Amino acid sequence: MTLLEAATAVRLRAYAPYSRFLVGAAIRSVEGHVHVGCNVENVAYPEGTCAEAGAIAAMIAQGDSRIAEILVIADSPEPVPCCGGCRQKIAEFADQGVTVTLCTVDGKSKTLSVAELLPGVFSGAHMART
Ligand code: THU
Repeated sequence: MTLLEAATAVRLRAYAPYSRFLVGAAIRSVEGHVHVGCNVENVAYPEGTCAEAGAIAAMIAQGDSRIAEILVIADSPEPVPCCGGCRQKIAEFADQGVTVTLCTVDGKSKTLSVAELLPGVFSGAHMART
C-alpha cells in the first residue's frame, strides 16, 4: 500500500465533529512499515490531536524508531501545511532531508524536506549546557 492510499483511507476514520476537517497521515518508517493516524478532536478543543501525532504514536507503539517518509492529506483547496506543533513532532523522529508530502483529496500535492518544513528547529544541541 502506498502512503497516499494509507493516508487517504485513515483520513475517513478521523473524529472531527467540531472542525469537520478530516486529516490523514501515513508514515513509512526506516524499518519499512507503514503507520497511520487521523485527527481526533475533543469537546475541550485543545485536547484534540492531529493526524501526524497519531501516526507518530502508532509508529512508536509498534516498535519502530524513525520516519523515512511522511504524507498528509486533507480536503483543502491547497495542500495544508502541518501545524507548528506537528512540525516539531516530525523533526523529533526524522532526519532533516526526509520528504514530507502534503496532499489534497483532489490530487494537488506539495513536497518539501523536514528542514524546509521547520527552519530553525529546536534540538537537543540547544540544551548542550544542561
Ligand atoms: N489538523 C491535523 O490533523 N493536521 C494538520 O496538519 C492540520 C490540522 C487537524 C487538527 C484539527 O482536528 C483540524 O485539523 C482543524 O484544525
